[in-house]
Order: sequence, then C-alpha cells, then structure tokens
Amino acid sequence: MNAESEHFMRISEIGQANLQITKGGSRPRILIVDDSPTIRYSLRKDLEQMGAIVSEATNGNEGLRMVESLELDLIITDVEMPEMDGFAFCAEIKRHPVKNSIPVVILSSREKEEDIEFAFKVGASNYITKSNARDNIRTRVKEILEKRSLLNGRTVLVVDDSPSIRNLIDKALTKAGFQVILAENGREALDLLGKYSPDMVVSDLHMPVLDGLGLCKIVHSNKEFSQIPFIIMSSDDDRAKMRQLLEYGASAYLVKPFNIDQLVITAERFLSDHFNRVLRERKHLESEQQMLIASISSLVLALEARDQYTSGHSESVATLSVNIAREMNMDEGRIARAKMAGKLHDIGKIGIRDDILLKPGPLNDEEMTIIKLHPSIGADILSPIQSLADIIPAIRSHHERIDGKGYPEGLKGEQIPLLARMVAVADTYDALTSDRPYRKGFSKEDALAIIEKAKGTQLCPECVRIFLKALEKDKL
Ligand SMILES: [Fe+2]
Repeated sequence: MNAESEHFMRISEIGQANLQITKGGSRPRILIVDDSPTIRYSLRKDLEQMGAIVSEATNGNEGLRMVESLELDLIITDVEMPEMDGFAFCAEIKRHPVKNSIPVVILSSREKEEDIEFAFKVGASNYITKSNARDNIRTRVKEILEKRSLLNGRTVLVVDDSPSIRNLIDKALTKAGFQVILAENGREALDLLGKYSPDMVVSDLHMPVLDGLGLCKIVHSNKEFSQIPFIIMSSDDDRAKMRQLLEYGASAYLVKPFNIDQLVITAERFLSDHFNRVLRERKHLESEQQMLIASISSLVLALEARDQYTSGHSESVATLSVNIAREMNMDEGRIARAKMAGKLHDIGKIGIRDDILLKPGPLNDEEMTIIKLHPSIGADILSPIQSLADIIPAIRSHHERIDGKGYPEGLKGEQIPLLARMVAVADTYDALTSDRPYRKGFSKEDALAIIEKAKGTQLCPECVRIFLKALEKDKL
C-alpha cells in the first residue's frame, strides 16, 4: 500500500457520527471519481458510514456519463486521472445545463496556490488537499450537503414589472438550485404568496398596481408571512425610503444596477440564516421538551413516594407495556412510546387529594368520582408537550373498558386507542400482583386467571393474548 492509500485508509477510522443530512428525506447520493481503486474503496467506506449512497467512476469521462444517468447531491473528484482530469471534469459539470448545481469537491495531493485557485475558477465548491483529508473531508462533506439540503428547491418569489429583469433573475436563481415563481406587480405577488408560500421574496420597488413598499408592508403585517426574508431591489437610493422599508421588515436593499451574483449570494445568505435560525429554534424546542418530560418523570417518582404501595408501579407498567409492544412486532419508535405511556399513565393522580388517594380501604361513591378524574387530569397536564401528543389519548383512555363501561368517556372496543388497551392490561396485572393496604397481592396464577376472565369485558382480548405470550417468553 502506498502512502496515499494508507492515508485514505485512515479516513475510515474517523468516528461513526451518522450524516442525517437528507435531500427530500432520502440519503445523500455521492459520486467518487478517482483512478485509484484503494482510494475509492476507502472513501466509499467512510462516506457509507456517514449514511451516503456512493457511486464510483475511474476518470472524468466515465464520471460525466454517470452524472447524466444519476441523481446526485455531491461529487468528489481526484485531479490527476487518465482520459479526463478533475479540473476538466469539474468545468464540464459547471457548463452542464441541468447538472451544474451539483457541488464538486476536488481532492488532490497538489498543494500549490495556483492549483487551488484554478479549482475554484472551474467552479469547485471546495478544494481538499490529501494531506488534510483526514480532518477535513467529513466536515466539508457535511457542510456542503447541509447547505444544499437547506437551500435546494427553496422557493423564491420574484416580483418585477420588467420582463428582462424577471428573466435574468429567474435564470440565475434557478441555476443556483432555487425554485422561482414570477410576478409582475405587488398585487399578483400577494395572490401567489397565498398559493405557494415561498421561502423568500425578491421585489422591485417601483411597480404599477402595488409597489414594493406596499407589498413589503402587507407581507410583514401578515402573521403567516411575517418571517419570510424580503429583499428589495431599486435604482432609487433614497435613504428615507430604505429606512421605511427596514421598518416594514425588509431584510436587504440592493441598489440597481447590481451584479446578479450579488443577488444570488444575498438570497443564499438570507435563506441560510433563516433556516439555521429555524433549525436552532427547533433544536431548542426539542431540548426544552426533553427537560419537561424529565421533570414530569420525576413528578411520577414524587407521586409514588407519597404512597409506598404504588412505588415502582409506573416503571413496572412501562416494562410490561414494552413487552407487549415487542410481542406485537412494533418498531423501536412505537416501543418507546409504549414505554412512555406506561411510565406516565397515572400522572393525573398528582391532582388527587391525599385523603382519597392514600385511603387504606374501599372508596365511597364521591371519592370514586374524584379518583376517576385522574386520566383526564393526566391528559391535561401533558397537553402542552407537543412531543407527547401521540400518547396523550392513551393516558386519557387507560381506564376505558372494551364493553364501554369504563371511564372517562365510556369508549368501546377499537374506539379505545391501542396504546391505552395495552397499558390497561399491564396496569391491571401489576395492580393485581402488588400488595395493597387492605389486601395482599394475588399470586401470578390467580392474577392471570382474573385477567383471562376480564378478556372481552374489561380488557382487549387481543392485547391479553399477546400479553400472556410475552409473559410466557419472559419466564423462559
Ligand atoms: Fe390509572
């Protein structure tokens, strides 16, 4: 193995962080163009570890043929190759009428300034020298795909009364990978805005019917559209007008004549900023919700600490619900939801007075009415947490009965969510086998006999059947 190949073998040793960057929800598709089988093999291995679908070509000519037939998100090419080298190949891609927006990364052992300069001249997005490859390739590939996935196919509404300017901007933005919608004036733009919900507006200032100032004011006073970046173009560099536009929420003001590349870069920058902000907010929301779930879980522990007889009950119901979900061949996501539903099913007991919740004996009618509120109280407590939206119905319905005689709503059969029917079986079994202040827990056999009897009246027959199967397996 030569030094170069050895170097690439090391790339695949880099950590396993999975690339979750996807275009339209699918895995990124990457073409490697290199004449060395060892380097192709090492690169492929590394990129596949990142979650990519990888194709290979041995030189620029073969690469071009593959680009024609493949849908690609990124190309990584070597420079020195037979038939067609990496620079010529990159230049061909950038001249291609359809494929020119695919980013090309040049990977080369040449480290001279003029080579790097030439690579950018022929349209490469990045130049990675092979001596730096180990540190750089993963980060660069991730960055490029992230940007492409954020910006590709984003819709820009272009508003200008001049057909030639509309045409010019349309061509430049389409080439950069955006979807473009065209309008002749502000009024037409407002109609299209409601129809297509674009990600950005680029508008002329002086137009008939409704001008850029009026359009900007209406767009940003509308709650649904107020966050959309709005770029104004005008030959008018009147400062008072610019200030007014900024007050109305415009993001940028480009003074005509401007270089068309300047507009594309501005559009990319604003959309990157905008989407990065949206992503950050989403991540922030997710972590806030995680914290909320963690504090609610600790509330469950606090709840159980009030009553030694129910201590560990939620954890047991969670484990049993998971066993049922596994036996039903549910996927990992749904198994996790079953666990969460089991853990939180009695959270509403937080809202029940101690003298009722902890009463060491049978409850009277009034007390029973109060304790029956706990499924609804639980659902209400969890309702602000968006990420629990799919398990809240299970919390509300875990005391419903198949025969319709349960509470709170008297739902029947399949009207009761499946997760609620699963938790009900787990809850009943754990309650029966646990000690109570007024009775000792039933033996496993007796509890199973009671559950068998409750099949079809209180409990879902299919869930009971699966529960028994899971329990049998557990014993083995
Ligand atoms: Fe309950």
